[in-house]
Amino acid sequence: MKVLSIVGARPQFVKLGPLSREIRKSFDEKIIHTGQHFDENMSKLIFDDLNIPKPDYYCDIHGGKHGEQTGRMMVELEKIFLKEKSDFAIVFGDTNSTLAGSLVAAKLGIKSVHVEAGLRSFNRAMPEEINRIVSDHTSDYLFAPTKTAIENLGKEGLSDKAFLVGDIMMDSIEYAKRLILAKNKNSVSKGFYLVTLHRPYNVDNPVKLRMILQKLGKLEHKIIFPMHPRTKNILVSNNIIVNSNIEIIEPVGYLDFIDLQLNSKKIITDSGGIQKEAYMLKVPCLTLRSETEWVETIESGWNRLVDVNNSDFVKTVSNFQPPDKYFELFGKNVADAMVNKMLEII
Ligand code: UD1
Repeated sequence: MKVLSIVGARPQFVKLGPLSREIRKSFDEKIIHTGQHFDENMSKLIFDDLNIPKPDYYCDIHGGKHGEQTGRMMVELEKIFLKEKSDFAIVFGDTNSTLAGSLVAAKLGIKSVHVEAGLRSFNRAMPEEINRIVSDHTSDYLFAPTKTAIENLGKEGLSDKAFLVGDIMMDSIEYAKRLILAKNKNSVSKGFYLVTLHRPYNVDNPVKLRMILQKLGKLEHKIIFPMHPRTKNILVSNNIIVNSNIEIIEPVGYLDFIDLQLNSKKIITDSGGIQKEAYMLKVPCLTLRSETEWVETIESGWNRLVDVNNSDFVKTVSNFQPPDKYFELFGKNVADAMVNKMLEII
């Protein structure tokens, strides 16, 4: 059977890595890269680190407004789907590439699997929330990472096509940890805070971004901040200067980023995936958002939502300590479970 895996943004490459390796034992896989993330260190570096085969198709579509970006992706994906006549397609997560892939598959009547289905932030102002909802409703098989995701799908009447298989990022992390250990890559000194920010509501308004960076500048720890191009663009075009405790670096590859997380004292982020990785790596996380789709990480006490407008922000971040208790939330050997499920249902 032939399968098309559609990816485009950095977090999707991370999910594709371990799954692609397992899929190729049972299926003929072709990879389509929409081009949404195109910088060498946002794309090729992650492919190299996770040993993902070079994409069979590269659509070179990035930038523009959401409708335009998604529409252009759909036009190209439709041509490829019609040419390849695959038995099914796989889409990952919640980006515009996910939405484009799942819509094209549905319109052409090609069965599709949505990996990381059932996540909900219940905030429809986030483009990702719309992408998740539409992709879950149009996909044929929903691979959910957590019990909460299964419950969310049930509330929307989607239980019949939902399967609890675990979170594929557990496999990516295991893979990375093995390689890091083998290369003895643990070279970074502990004690710094690791920061990532890229959500439009945190970075697109230069006044807000400047305020966040000022607050981070007040923390007593050194901060390492691998900066997403979206954030970098706003920082540079508005001449925002940061305090000397903040070291801004280019986005790093997957292995280096896991290494940075492993060696950090705390992580401050607005990324969904990094909240989860922090938990998987047992690093306390502070999330600069008003809600999250990864509610288990909050309930466990290892992740906390923080409001940067609060006057006690600096104190809250500095004093945050996770509990001693830690539970495995995301499963194990997930690629294996996913491929077994595909062989059973498709
Ligand atoms: C996208 C996803 C978001 C995901 C994030 C991971 C959507 C709606 N959003 O957000 O869910 O968490 O990826 O990083 O799909 N850019 C570059 N070089 C790159 C990548 C982006 O210069 O390699 C620029 C783009 O041209 C654009 C901006 O950064 O101007 C934002 O990129 P875009 O892909 O539109 O959204 P992200 O913010 O990356």
